[in-house]
Amino acid sequence: MSIKLATMYWLQVKEANYTRLCKKKTILTVNGEFPGPTIYARRGDTLVVNVKNRGNIGITIHWHGVKQPRNPWSDGPEFITQCPIQPGSSFSQTIILSDEEGTLWWHAHSDWSRATVHGLIVIWPKIGRPYPFPKPYAEYPIILGEWFRQDPEAVLLDFMKTGGDPNTSDALTINGQPGDLYPCSSSETTKFIVEQGKTYMLRMVNAAMNIFMFWAIGGHEVTVVGTDGAYTKPLKTGYVMISPGQTIDLLFKANQPIGRYYIAARPYNSQPLISFDNTSTTAIIKYKAYKDSSSPPVFPNLPKVNDTSVSVNFTGSLRSLATRAHPVNVPMKITQNFLFTISLNTFPCPNNSCLGPMGLRFAASINNISFEFPKISILDAYYRRITGVYGDAFPNFPPFFFDFTSNNINRSLQTPLNATEVKVLEYNDTVELVFQGTNLVAGIDHPMHLHGHSFYVVGWGFGNFNRNKDPLNYNLVDPPLQQTIAVPKNGWTAIRFKADNPGVWFMHCHLERHLSWGMDMAFITKNGSRTVESILPPPPDMPPCT
Ligand code: C2O
Ligand code: CU
Repeated sequence: MSIKLATMYWLQVKEANYTRLCKKKTILTVNGEFPGPTIYARRGDTLVVNVKNRGNIGITIHWHGVKQPRNPWSDGPEFITQCPIQPGSSFSQTIILSDEEGTLWWHAHSDWSRATVHGLIVIWPKIGRPYPFPKPYAEYPIILGEWFRQDPEAVLLDFMKTGGDPNTSDALTINGQPGDLYPCSSSETTKFIVEQGKTYMLRMVNAAMNIFMFWAIGGHEVTVVGTDGAYTKPLKTGYVMISPGQTIDLLFKANQPIGRYYIAARPYNSQPLISFDNTSTTAIIKYKAYKDSSSPPVFPNLPKVNDTSVSVNFTGSLRSLATRAHPVNVPMKITQNFLFTISLNTFPCPNNSCLGPMGLRFAASINNISFEFPKISILDAYYRRITGVYGDAFPNFPPFFFDFTSNNINRSLQTPLNATEVKVLEYNDTVELVFQGTNLVAGIDHPMHLHGHSFYVVGWGFGNFNRNKDPLNYNLVDPPLQQTIAVPKNGWTAIRFKADNPGVWFMHCHLERHLSWGMDMAFITKNGSRTVESILPPPPDMPPCT
């Protein structure tokens, strides 16, 4: 059995009408679908995706987790590797897969469009190659999202103007549907039919804008087998915590009495000061032989919404598969050592009239620099040597050392700088990067995401990172290979990666409000000495910047 896969996809960005929560509205979609279409590939494939913008705002599309060796041109983050595709224009993007296998996803990477413009990327093993587990009987997508009654663009404009928090969403969704616990929703609740005794693969992504989620199935355990397009050691668990941006592949065995079981997800939020959509979304698993009755589906036990220890316990349990067929390759000799503080901040506001804390304007930063998006793309400026677009002075360490996680941080440390700075890496640099969360303004977990690479998560802890002690406990044997990692509230996470992909690569918090506030930076990896170590030439139809 070999399925022939398309290597060419057409994605039309366009508006479509959808009714949720008793109200019809127009949303931006791809091909009229919400969530958008799934892209299927096999490991190592190259695909061409023709993106046509038939909407009325500029847009870019990002292939989240695809490393795109030598091909930053098609990566997608606006003003980092390209300018937006204007309404009426197209851009044909080349998706170069390499060692990714499992589930990734694609999403808009301009303004807040990704709220509705997103979909899965399924990457099967090469023909003739097995999964590292018995082949599942079938597979289902689990796309977790957020539904806003407002237009997401209006939410963005509004909080960027007021300086306050963004409005919260009005529902969480599974495959675009809020489920039975929301008004006017139960007739369309997502349903999965399963056969008793069979094993299914669930390909899950957290496509929500601003919410970490706990997720579980009533009456069943699941087995985690992969995350972020890399296999993990099988991890049996009753629940999952998934960060915005992260993907998790699970095996689910229909081994319970014939019946109906809820799949449910609800927020994990460690910061009581922020408001968020504290509701639960549901879908239903129905065993095939089930005869309708009035008894409700079995509801799962979900962890408490603020249960940080349960959250870090799950994330900290992930391990690389580390087998002969799927080896690990953790950099051991480090050429670049970084400590990056990730903070919420405030900027002054005329007459203290903003809606952030004490009339100030919310901001966010990495190493005290709140990222300012340039007007043309950094990649374009780098490639064509245009000066004045970005600086290359992103610091290796925070400018001030203080007790980062204290409850009592001097308020004068709250104001960051505003700049567009990158960190330049030599080809094949080996990087150790410690993210240090801070308690400035309000500590919270941050799902940090790096484009163009996967990284090994070699360590994490609460409090301040200790350069002398903490590295002694690193896992250099089977650390998980990820692209998005939840740095725990008032804690730190250490990652390692090899800078073997020349280009411009965005790194940011995948909480969309933090991205908008400036918790972003970019790496530029220089070309190596050989052509195969150098950036490919730009495609002819790069969206122009002016
Ligand atoms: Cu999921 Cu910069 O992206
Ligand atoms: Cu964040």
